[in-house]
Amino acid sequence: MTDAAKPILVAVAWPYANGPLHLGHIAGAYLPADIFARYHRIIGNDVLMVSGSDAHGTPITVRADEEGVTPRDVVERFHPQFLSYWRDLGISFDLFTSTMTDNHAQVTQMLFTQLYDNGFITERTTQQFYDPDAAKFLPDRYVEGTCPACGAAGARGDQCDACGKTLDATDLIDPRSKLSGAIPELKDTSHYFILLSKLEKAVSEWLAGRQDWRPHVINWANGFIGDGLHDRAITRDIAWGVPLPDGVGLEGADEKRIYVWFEAVVGYLSASIEWANNRGEPDAWKRWWFNDDAESYYFVGKDNIPFHAVYWPAQLIGAGSYNLPTNVPANQYVTFKGAKASKSLGIGKSVTDYLSVFSPDTLRYALAVNLPETNDVDLTDEEMARRVNDELAATWGNLVNRVFTMAQSMADGVMPAASVRDTTDEELIALVNTQVSETAAAIAAVELRVGLRAAMRGAQAVNIYLNELAPWKTAKTDTERTLTTLHVAIEAIARLNVAFAPYLPFSAASIDQLCGFDGEFSGRGFTGRVPDVGTPLGTPTPLFAKIEL
Ligand code: MF3
Ligand code: ZN
Repeated sequence: MTDAAKPILVAVAWPYANGPLHLGHIAGAYLPADIFARYHRIIGNDVLMVSGSDAHGTPITVRADEEGVTPRDVVERFHPQFLSYWRDLGISFDLFTSTMTDNHAQVTQMLFTQLYDNGFITERTTQQFYDPDAAKFLPDRYVEGTCPACGAAGARGDQCDACGKTLDATDLIDPRSKLSGAIPELKDTSHYFILLSKLEKAVSEWLAGRQDWRPHVINWANGFIGDGLHDRAITRDIAWGVPLPDGVGLEGADEKRIYVWFEAVVGYLSASIEWANNRGEPDAWKRWWFNDDAESYYFVGKDNIPFHAVYWPAQLIGAGSYNLPTNVPANQYVTFKGAKASKSLGIGKSVTDYLSVFSPDTLRYALAVNLPETNDVDLTDEEMARRVNDELAATWGNLVNRVFTMAQSMADGVMPAASVRDTTDEELIALVNTQVSETAAAIAAVELRVGLRAAMRGAQAVNIYLNELAPWKTAKTDTERTLTTLHVAIEAIARLNVAFAPYLPFSAASIDQLCGFDGEFSGRGFTGRVPDVGTPLGTPTPLFAKIEL
């Protein structure tokens, strides 16, 4: 059925470990990545799904400063929370690590050195604010002064909160150091720069071949590169981050760290290597990174497009012969602007709050039908509850429940024979098979909402079939017809269940067990497994509890 297994890298954005995750993050990256990964495992491909906590950068240090704790403390608080979301929601990472590991530092340094040796990294001297009292260079947000645009006092060097304008620290009037109150001085500092100007041609040529990407992604990437790629500093005068490789000649290198956006994306590679080391097969990662057959999909939010569609490919091209992204199916945003969001349920907004009301599969369904694949989506609790109650529970959950309950009462709890199967029955199965194929094609193309709708149409067709053939009526008059109807309905459910499995892994496993199987779909193929006649069937319990507002 399947050809040789294809290596598929499912690379998912690394969340900053500086706070709890919201549903927007889940719908934006983690759920779509998981649906895609599960699909590829089912059809027998070799999936490697990796991500981890992004431990560096100002989002982490700002929170640490505010709380008076170390950046490591902040990461170590939120990283375990992320792991519990994945477990509770069934997000099936092969590895979810962090950028604080020694392995990540080594792999980052290796990639840095490869770029350096290939002539794509060079040293340059720039001027930056320096606090003479604290004896430290100041990141932009550690400088305060009067906003040059609106005149407000207390504007930060990166942005004025009063008028919202983004600033450079050197724009501020009467700048002061936030660390000591001293007047900062401009001082020379040496940094490494990645020579994106030298990589621009190769990146543009590669992007020109990616015109099948989502329009909003490729348009954005083309627009970005159309303005020209400029060399960028990839080191900072800070203490928290990945150190430079040993022995580099840069002045004061010990006090500098690699810029967070240079190293966070390296996480995809370092996590693949960590995964291989954990398995005791240290070269296993190469199948996903150096193999012409391999494909890689980067699931990120739209704010991450430049880093994944332009900068990361540039880093990979400059470093060597690594595989470049097959696709970057970036999502738009899910927002909860609607005033009612999260209020009707009387809960907060975090993933944990929603999981106190929704089961994992009902939450996955409510988000999967609303994925922001082509445009921003504004979600409300009402919309989520309606989708679960009126669609998932009413159409699919209820169907499974009815059919397996009837199998108990009318067919002695075993898979009945279909002794009088006719064209009505064949037409239903043909339609179901068509819907399952549509789901497969849609997921392969990362059109996940379309795929779920196709599966739901299959479930609607089985409901119509059942209502027309009304086995609860024919049971009194025609046993063979009744048993045939039940057989065909169970067959249809079993075939559709594989299409739902990437979206609803928990209930799909339960339904598979009702059919007498083990609930494990990996490697099965996307055709569904139908119980043999005479197989004992399970007794159903309701699959999807209604959401009460
Ligand atoms: N931490 C970044 C964010 O939340 C995403 C980093 S994705 C990575 O926007 F690949 F760069 F790590
Ligand atoms: Zn201002």
